Amino acid sequence: MAAAGRLLASSRCLLAQSRLVAAAAHRAVWRGPARSFSSEDKVTVKFINRDGDTMVADGKVGESLLDVVVEKNLDIDGFGACEGTLACSTCHLIFDDDIFQKLDKITDEEMDMLDLAYGLTERSRLGCQICLKKWMDGMTVRVPEAVADVRQTVDMGKNS
Ligand code: FES
Repeated sequence: MAAAGRLLASSRCLLAQSRLVAAAAHRAVWRGPARSFSSEDKVTVKFINRDGDTMVADGKVGESLLDVVVEKNLDIDGFGACEGTLACSTCHLIFDDDIFQKLDKITDEEMDMLDLAYGLTERSRLGCQICLKKWMDGMTVRVPEAVADVRQTVDMGKNS
């Protein structure tokens, strides 16, 4: 029962992401205008990058923070290396406390991957697992100073 719940939770963002990929592929074919959405669906997020630079991007309700970074081509080095499959922890983000308290419950799978992230804080989550909601409009998220790609650590272990 708990496994089914975790699977359902982790599939939410993947479903949203697959819709984005399909939409992007459709745009690539007919070369129409970039996506647009109503102000009701729009969620603005401020990303504070490792070097302190601030980037502001709009996403749509239901998209993950990884979707926003990819869609808006935000310059966050190494972010989202596993494309949201919960295999890298490079999408580690740090939230303000008031936002963090309202986020959906973390799954065991996200917690396991987050434990391997550098610079872990009590307000850390993985951006590929956080889907935008209207109440998040205007929130700020911080990119930690260092990033760990768990897949490279595993690969390096195999080579040694
Ligand atoms: S993008 Fe790899 S765990 Fe989130």
